[in-house]
Amino acid sequence: MGRKIGVGIIGAGIMGSSRAKAAKNALETEVVAVADVVEERARNLADQVGAIPYTDFRKMLRNERVEAVFVTTPDHLHKEPVIAAAEAGKHIWIEKPLATNMDDAKEMMKAIIRAQKAGAKVTVQFSTRWYPAYTAFERVVKWGYVGEPISLDFSINDRIDVPLSMWGGPEKSWAKYSSVADFLTCYSVDLVRCITGLEARKVYARSASKVLKFTPDFYQALVTFEGDFCAYLESNWILARSKLQLSEHYVLLSCSEGTLQYLSPSATFVAQSVGGGEIFFKEDTSMETLMEIQGKLREEGIVARIVLEPEREYPYEIWTAKDQNRALWIPTGAAHHVKHHHGNQFKNFIYSILENQEPYVTALDGYKATEVVCAIKESASRGETVRLSL
Ligand SMILES: NC(=O)c1ccc[n+]([C@@H]2O[C@H](COP(=O)([O-])OP(=O)(O)OC[C@H]3O[C@@H](n4cnc5c(N)ncnc54)[C@H](O)[C@@H]3O)[C@@H](O)[C@H]2O)c1
Repeated sequence: MGRKIGVGIIGAGIMGSSRAKAAKNALETEVVAVADVVEERARNLADQVGAIPYTDFRKMLRNERVEAVFVTTPDHLHKEPVIAAAEAGKHIWIEKPLATNMDDAKEMMKAIIRAQKAGAKVTVQFSTRWYPAYTAFERVVKWGYVGEPISLDFSINDRIDVPLSMWGGPEKSWAKYSSVADFLTCYSVDLVRCITGLEARKVYARSASKVLKFTPDFYQALVTFEGDFCAYLESNWILARSKLQLSEHYVLLSCSEGTLQYLSPSATFVAQSVGGGEIFFKEDTSMETLMEIQGKLREEGIVARIVLEPEREYPYEIWTAKDQNRALWIPTGAAHHVKHHHGNQFKNFIYSILENQEPYVTALDGYKATEVVCAIKESASRGETVRLSL
């Protein structure tokens, strides 16, 4: 291995620590600097990863050994560090969401585009993009095996301890400057765009804050995409603390010739689901076709299993082709190695720099998700449909 890419972290909180540790452990990178407005946090993390602490990220950006910057500040505080990093010509990883309002997003994109033209790689981090099941969904839709996307139900939720405790309690929490739409719905918008290749055209949404009071409890949005593809996107931040998982989500995508379904593992206490994605095809889909898709997914590095359902009983007697009850299952815990991901989100970003390739998730993806999320928030506050420009 040749020289290591010098990494600088801006924001030494939960995600900053996680990214710094990934960069310290990777062969291709070393953490050279950590910045946080809270000196103690900068110092603690810098000590752990052998880096120089800063309290001013602008000063950190003058350190020439910093080539790639991870912006891990709170949702509403991404703009200043991203623009400064772009102007300093650094490669940039931005935690989702890109921004919490369109003014910030537009200003950031101007600086990002200038930096990209000069060779910088910029990614916005949506961790759900790295689930092999979703890459399988995207491929199977694109390959035409399930027909046209018709409707989608996507729910992504956190336990109430995320807005209440994760960032120091309601008084200190920066959740009040963000929202569950910024924090979670951005994932669903990004995934729907990725899987279907369609852009949102109009939004009708609602929200309320009966429990949290300092930030909305939930957002429910009806989003119409190109070609009249209709999505219902729900996110809530008030799941009971007694639930097993801090975060969970499910997806049901109905296409004209198939159904794609995802359930996160252990989403329920009792069922203890192993989770993963399942793809159900039209009833006359042959076993050979399933094996063909399985093979194509394998070439992409995705493990898919053909699962056969036992014979169905009443009230399913109207379904006569009992030998065709089967699906493709993309198990969560299988040995996937999705090729174009380079293994994972961190490697994908680092290899985009080393190999001069566009990252799998682009800055424009982040911008598009922010645009729809802002329309959702606007619609919920005005109680009206909001149209998105072409
Ligand atoms: N916590 C999660 O589970 C999670 C998961 C995925 C993505 N994210 C995203 O990552 C980002 C960070 O979230 P977090 O949970 O790590 O927040 P956090 O509150 O734990 O950390 C943010 C850090 O940024 C620092 N900071 C604020 N302004 C700064 C500035 N101007 N310069 C330097 N440091 C500054 C804060 O002092 C704090 O230490 C958010 O955008 C969030 O949506 C969080």
